[in-house]
Amino acid sequence: MLKIDDLVTIEIDNIAFGGSGVGRFDGLAVFVPLSIPGETIEARVIEIKKNYALAKIESIKNPSQKRQSPPCQYFGKCQGCVYQHMDYKEELKIKTSQVKDIFERLAHISDPPVLPATPCPHEYGYRNKVRLRYKQLKDNKKLFGYIIENRKRTLDIESCLIASPLINKILSDLRNNDFDFFGKQNIRSHNLTLIEDGINSYTALEKKAELKATVNNKIFNYSINSFFQVNRSIFNSLIEYLLSIITKLDLQDAYLCDLYCGVGFFGILLSEHFKHVHFVEQNRVSCRFLEKNIKENNIENAKVINADTEAIIESLTNKYDVIIIDPPRSGCDDKVCASLAEMKPKKLIYISCNPATMARDIEKLTNLGFTLESLKPFDFFPKTKHIEVVAILRL
Ligand SMILES: C[S@@+](CC[C@H](N)C(=O)[O-])C[C@H]1O[C@@H](n2cnc3c(N)ncnc32)[C@H](O)[C@@H]1O
Repeated sequence: MLKIDDLVTIEIDNIAFGGSGVGRFDGLAVFVPLSIPGETIEARVIEIKKNYALAKIESIKNPSQKRQSPPCQYFGKCQGCVYQHMDYKEELKIKTSQVKDIFERLAHISDPPVLPATPCPHEYGYRNKVRLRYKQLKDNKKLFGYIIENRKRTLDIESCLIASPLINKILSDLRNNDFDFFGKQNIRSHNLTLIEDGINSYTALEKKAELKATVNNKIFNYSINSFFQVNRSIFNSLIEYLLSIITKLDLQDAYLCDLYCGVGFFGILLSEHFKHVHFVEQNRVSCRFLEKNIKENNIENAKVINADTEAIIESLTNKYDVIIIDPPRSGCDDKVCASLAEMKPKKLIYISCNPATMARDIEKLTNLGFTLESLKPFDFFPKTKHIEVVAILRL
């Protein structure tokens, strides 16, 4: 029986969602962070649970050819990145196969129609928003860093390789200047959001700051508190992909419904192909920006519904040609799935940053009569465990 501190030899078969390599020892799954499929690892057991164990690499007997030296000095400590130690093609291959595996296990679809993951044009320097904690220690030393170990510790960082150059410049300015948080003196600990504005390179540290970005010639106003995508470099690939689906439909006098729409990102970018665009969003502040975005982009026949999707979905009685849903990580509830089937769109486009809840919902949708046409991962967050997936369904 495996014990804590045992040194074991493990062959790594694949990478679990979250980034750890997985192998077996005496039939028990052993998770080994920072390993790569095909490697044989000598690992020290550090935790044993009922169905699995966790082990730490002591040595690698046959390093994979895909292995590379992680460029960031905090890799393995900051808990943000999990794939810096392998080449990018391998990371994309792993993410694609994780989506396939999740849909087989959680949506019970054998051989799900997963297309290859679309890469991000920039492996590093893509995040235009980061959350950090500032701490002043007893000796007056300042920490600016990521919150780690279940929020217990702040890891001081000079710079973050996945953050944009501007975000790193702000971080260094903060570190090198005596920073007065909103006019308040003697603040010893403070959570900060650093965010970059696409037009003015404006940086908001104040909660009330309003931001502006242009994407495909459309203007988006938003704030630090409203959802806005954090990686702009992959937008074009995503929009081109959605257009390739939409332009194949026979759309005349067409209706689009954008559920969980935030400040209107998808509905506004696709609006030229529809006569009517209806938006549903729970957050009042986001709806205020959405109204402004509709006006500044001259979108006619738009309707904004500031409500919970589940509360109003049954009242959406128009014949929608396309429905887009982009719910929060928790996914959508049974009532929403049932209503989507009754609305009978030509295409249902489900976008998610949580493939597990998406798989659960897609099982419900297929039981309600939808056919899953394709699943396309987009690598919105290179080097991290996260995967964005676009599912295309039809009735
Ligand atoms: C993942 S974000 C997507 C936003 C938008 N599609 C975009 O790409 O910018 C999810 C959005 O759903 C909103 N939301 C969360 N729960 C909701 C609900 N029950 N009904 C309507 N909107 C909701 C959130 O406020 C957030 O703006």
